[in-house]
Amino acid sequence: MDALVRIFDTTLRDGEQSPGFSMNPGEKLELARQLEALRVDVIEAGFPISSPGDLESVRTVAREVRGVAVAGLARANPKDVDAAIEALRPAARPRVHVFIATSPIHMEHKLRMSADEVVAAAEAAVRQARRFTDDVEFSAEDASRSDVEFLCRVFDRVIRAGATVINVPDTVGYATPGEYAALIATLRERVPDSDRVTWSVHCHDDLGLAVANSVAAVAAGARQVECTINGIGERAGNAALEEIVMALRTRRDVWGVRTGVDTTKLYRASRLLVAITGVPVQPNKAIVGENAFAHEAGIHQHGVLMHRATYEIMRPEDVGLPTNRLVLGKHSGRHAFRRVLEDQGVRLDEAALNRTFERFKALADRKKQVAIEDILALVDQEVRAAPARFVLEAFQVTTGTATAPAASVTLRSADGLATATGTGDGPVDALCQAVNQITGVRAQLLDYAIRAVTGGTDALGEVTARVREGDVVVVGRASSTDVLEASVLAYLDGVNRLAAARAGARVEDPAWA
Ligand code: KIV
Ligand code: ZN
Repeated sequence: MDALVRIFDTTLRDGEQSPGFSMNPGEKLELARQLEALRVDVIEAGFPISSPGDLESVRTVAREVRGVAVAGLARANPKDVDAAIEALRPAARPRVHVFIATSPIHMEHKLRMSADEVVAAAEAAVRQARRFTDDVEFSAEDASRSDVEFLCRVFDRVIRAGATVINVPDTVGYATPGEYAALIATLRERVPDSDRVTWSVHCHDDLGLAVANSVAAVAAGARQVECTINGIGERAGNAALEEIVMALRTRRDVWGVRTGVDTTKLYRASRLLVAITGVPVQPNKAIVGENAFAHEAGIHQHGVLMHRATYEIMRPEDVGLPTNRLVLGKHSGRHAFRRVLEDQGVRLDEAALNRTFERFKALADRKKQVAIEDILALVDQEVRAAPARFVLEAFQVTTGTATAPAASVTLRSADGLATATGTGDGPVDALCQAVNQITGVRAQLLDYAIRAVTGGTDALGEVTARVREGDVVVVGRASSTDVLEASVLAYLDGVNRLAAARAGARVEDPAWA
């Protein structure tokens, strides 16, 4: 039997901490559930000391997601480790992840600590974490630029203190595959009791080598890979989970290892992250990009039609990419609909399923062929819907080459119906102005993106609107076959989120009052 390589997902920690990818606690939990369905081995849910909100998010994931180990990050000091323990207390399988930098440049200029002080802090933090759980990971930050002798010394001490996983990060994405593999091999050879721990790698993509470095390290004996969905993360990102998993699987003949990941859930996990953050994946992205399995050149199309393997090294269905685009139509029933959702790893409670099914029926009336991508867009809309303080009742737009764009919007709220008109630079701007007048939210549209979910002129248009009021930035999202309807709904989704954030924050944060 091939050796198992464990997948440690850090989308909710290293991924989430990078600009533009922040998620609220509900969104983190939703993604964590998808990661559990994907069957990753460890979910790093956050960095509990970094904020009360992060601690609470880690605690929520730890309480709700029972089928997978949940990790919390801590620097090597007592307060950080206490916060991680506090957050992980409800977990079925808690892991405390302790780190400290070991490279000369970090020790001297960032930590201002001597080598001896770093060793002592690492050892003490691991001991403290071990009193709470027997699953303790230690990371030597900037390991790839650290002195190997010093790394051996630190690792020896933390293993003796009880660390069970030793992580060797390429924090700044500086390593090359050959030297990184050699580093792992050297450490495994020189560190006493190295066979009692799991060797882990964590690579950043500054030189575009994160995945190559990770798989090279696997060949040298690493048995845990740290990575993120869509490769999101600090600066150029982390190693992409979907690429690591599919590389190890597709070239099992080379690496002779396996992962426990259900690869058919990869596409869904990628989509969910895009839906939550509003940050799209580049079309040519390996595994989950729109073009990853598209064959455009005639000669390629001909080859694939004759025999798929001429140009396809993986089957789209192995990564959960819908191949049969015409899945459901207006005569499809609830049973078939539920089945499609289950196949995609989507879990909705009965009420949410019913609402999504109703939206599907309405869509099937407008669009003959409803594809899996359309259904996933409806699911994203349901899952992400903000508490709807304001609901769109009706809208009308006038625009044209000789007419100034104007819009009329009617919204329903607890106070009844309200209608306002707005004008603007274009029809979307006019719609947003009308929404602002009714809701009283002083929202500003920062970013607006529209994407056709499938091909064809009747395609569902999916709109992502990044909206700001004061310091609070949220992502609103909606889809419709009418792009102006999708636009006003996405903006309203953002405004509802802002209104909810404002109401929620008022209790703790007088700045909102
Ligand atoms: O890149 C890095 O070194 C990290 C550590 C905290 C593991 O993210
Ligand atoms: Zn990192």
